[in-house]
Amino acid sequence: MLSKTIEDVLNTQIKIEAESSQIYLAMACWAEVKGLEGVSNFMYAQSDEEREHMLKLVKFVNERGGHAKISQLAEPSVDFISFKAMFEKLLEHEIFVSQSINELVHIALQEKDYATHNFLQWYVAEQIEEEAVARTILDKINLIGDDKGGLYLFDRDIANITVTSASNTGLQ
Ligand code: FEO
Repeated sequence: MLSKTIEDVLNTQIKIEAESSQIYLAMACWAEVKGLEGVSNFMYAQSDEEREHMLKLVKFVNERGGHAKISQLAEPSVDFISFKAMFEKLLEHEIFVSQSINELVHIALQEKDYATHNFLQWYVAEQIEEEAVARTILDKINLIGDDKGGLYLFDRDIANITVTSASNTGLQ
């Protein structure tokens, strides 16, 4: 059974994951209308993943005797000065999500809610991966600079950027 405190903070995280999904959907649209098909596909997939993160929390809250709250979401900003700026925003957002998860873990321990603490470990691992992928992408973008041919290859290759390539430095 969830305490009211834990239920409230998990519901806040549900909103954060839902807003993450919206942010990446907006990024997918931005890239798609610019003709960056690879980047937009990557962002559509990211958006879907965030919805999965949200649903996993929804199920957990409901199964543990709480009631998942489905909130009104903030409208994401949709204008980026460059695709590099867009990926910087993605990394910045993932760092924010990681901090939020860390805070949740801290509260779960304070509340002696070891079931929730255990459940949250999946999110801790997921955030390490997501930040690693975002950093790998930014490393690649910094290598490309303003080169149009590089951008073409990047758009083609982004589908192959995985956590494994991220942890292998992935700069080839
Ligand atoms: Fe669900 Fe990308 O944080």
